[in-house]
Amino acid sequence: MSDLEKTEFALPEGFGRPDDSPVGLTVLPEERDVEKSLRPKSINEFIGQPKVREQLNLVLAGARRRGVTPDHILLSGPPGLGKTTMAMIIAQELGTSLRMTSGPALERAGDLAAMLSNLMEGDVLFIDEIHRIARPAEEMLYMAMEDFRIDVIVGKGPGATSIPLEIPPFTLVGATTRAGMLTGPLRDRFGFTAQMEFYSVEDLTKVVTRAASILGVSIEPDAAVEIASRSRGTPRIANRLLRRVRDWADVNGNGHVDLAAARSALAVFDVDELGLDRLDRAVLDSLIRGHGGGPVGVNTLAIAVGEEPGTVEEVCEPYLVRAGLMARTGRGRVATASAWHHLGMTPPPDAPGQLDLF
Ligand SMILES: Nc1ncnc2c1ncn2[C@@H]1O[C@H](COP(=O)(O)OP(=O)(O)OP(=O)(O)O)[C@@H](O)[C@H]1O
Ligand SMILES: [Mg+2]
Repeated sequence: MSDLEKTEFALPEGFGRPDDSPVGLTVLPEERDVEKSLRPKSINEFIGQPKVREQLNLVLAGARRRGVTPDHILLSGPPGLGKTTMAMIIAQELGTSLRMTSGPALERAGDLAAMLSNLMEGDVLFIDEIHRIARPAEEMLYMAMEDFRIDVIVGKGPGATSIPLEIPPFTLVGATTRAGMLTGPLRDRFGFTAQMEFYSVEDLTKVVTRAASILGVSIEPDAAVEIASRSRGTPRIANRLLRRVRDWADVNGNGHVDLAAARSALAVFDVDELGLDRLDRAVLDSLIRGHGGGPVGVNTLAIAVGEEPGTVEEVCEPYLVRAGLMARTGRGRVATASAWHHLGMTPPPDAPGQLDLF
């Protein structure tokens, strides 16, 4: 089994949404191969994220000119926006190999030492979910990132000795859905942080069209736009919705996806016009019907919808905020006037509107 597969299984239980949700962000085992086939292989093939692409191109080209390994790179952003894909592309562009692991898999410093001591010069070490790395491994990582050296402790108790070990120069690529949870010293050791943003409908339309051509789905342009606009700004969801729409078209028609097929399929799977799924709507519902629009704490909301607070915070909220439906304030989460309208209700006069937020 490759390290990549280990990484993706290493996410803690309860991470993501219920598996029956088409918008859920948990990568299901049967989906792994499809995702692999859909991953862009080069920076030019990577759709959207113009800023990140430009910055990365510079970082990589600069290092190439100077003949050194690039600075360590942190990829930050909500699930499904292409962090793992980008890490693979970085190694590809550098012409080096990629070693993959994840924060939760590095429980002991020894786990990391084993990974580091196997690196070859110039390799890219990818640590997914780097904010979940255990403390002792994190401390070892500081030294490795800064001095390409680690101290390996041999033995236990008073007889324990520390043996210095040189590590060949490498580039660490860390990915995180929670940049705020990284400790200061770790964050400071990255030379460059790429902030991945939600995708525009236009870019997601390209993602859907590209995936359709790879998967051999015949699709009308307006159907691709429809799927894109309901994908919560997220390529993983766009690809997933495309496959559900294809299922619908295969079963109810001749497999050709037109606008009517896309709309009917998305209705069956409970994805509304804004791309919100049941969990998003449950959060808004609890915020508005249960708490008069807030402010209310994320823990209270999570309990009300039966989810982990981390899931509500990492998966639901970024998109609700970006869609202008929710605001995070010092006192808690607040529903905007648009959120009230979205649930078909009249907002109270003091509900914040779009303009108050930006
Ligand atoms: N820019 C893009 N263009 C085309 N497809 C993309 C792009 N970004 C991501 N994808 C598709 O979306 C899927 C998810 O991307 P990826 O696994 O890289 O996301 P991630 O940010 O690592 O997610 P997670 O936080 O859950 O690990 C990939 O299989 C890929 O096919
Ligand atoms: Mg990933």
